Amino acid sequence: MRLENKVIVVTGASAGMGEAIVTRFVQEGAKVVAVARRKERLEALIASLKDAPGAVVACPGDMADPATSEKMVDMAVQTFGRLDVLVNCAGIMDDNTAVGDMSDEMLDRLLRVNTCGPIYAMRKAVRVFLAQGEGGNIVNVTSVGAFHQTAGVAYCASKGALASATKNTAFMYMEEGIRCNAIAPGGVVTEIPMVMPTPNEFGFGRTSTLLTHSPELGMPEDIAEAALFLASDESKFVNGTTITCDGGWTCF
Ligand SMILES: NC(=O)c1ccc[n+]([C@@H]2O[C@H](COP(=O)([O-])OP(=O)(O)OC[C@H]3O[C@@H](n4cnc5c(N)ncnc54)[C@H](O)[C@@H]3O)[C@@H](O)[C@H]2O)c1
Repeated sequence: MRLENKVIVVTGASAGMGEAIVTRFVQEGAKVVAVARRKERLEALIASLKDAPGAVVACPGDMADPATSEKMVDMAVQTFGRLDVLVNCAGIMDDNTAVGDMSDEMLDRLLRVNTCGPIYAMRKAVRVFLAQGEGGNIVNVTSVGAFHQTAGVAYCASKGALASATKNTAFMYMEEGIRCNAIAPGGVVTEIPMVMPTPNEFGFGRTSTLLTHSPELGMPEDIAEAALFLASDESKFVNGTTITCDGGWTCF
């Protein structure tokens, strides 16, 4: 098994890619703390994995609150004895607004959940990695929107900042053996369209022109395979980079 006995925190675990990542990791023997706001969805996920080789516990919490990052990593250490990998997958979409239409609330919420949340989590994880003294591994889920204009200004800025924070963290701690990489998914079939706000007409008019280049949408399991590679020791020489998983959408 590729993650046997690795202790891993995965955020955004109640749906979409995060749920697929937890499922794949537990099948590979990982001991996982699954984090999201909806407790009942996390409990259903745990029940679905009861016969899998690894283990999984639920940690309900909002990633916009720095206390959630403290709680989830403490839970990993208290329940499983240590932390090996952090996967920051929780995220939300904006309404495709260009800056002229953007509200203060939209910018604040997107930066808080998509950028501050993962950075709070990295801070806590790095402190534990340094105390353990055996290196560590972080995988952030950004988006092709970090580098291409697939959404509004708030979403693209939030994911671009996370891509930057990924590189910075890899650079800062490479001598301590802490790796930090990101995955930039393209269009993937998840619950995100159901929870995203109604698209702004002007902004969506602009971003939808990119859809002419779009291949078939990916599935959450496609992203889970990339996350498995980055979380495992097979990627030990990969550090400070973003792997694009978009079926070729942005290679024009
Ligand atoms: N689906 C796509 O096409 C796509 C493309 C590029 C990037 N992404 C990114 O992939 C990641 C996963 O998205 P998905 O498509 O699986 O979406 P999803 O809506 O299916 O799942 C998102 C998960 O994050 C959780 N979440 C959202 N806000 C949270 C918060 N404040 N605190 C804790 N948990 C929270 C949700 O409860 C859910 O478990 C996100 O970061 C998203 O931005 C998605």
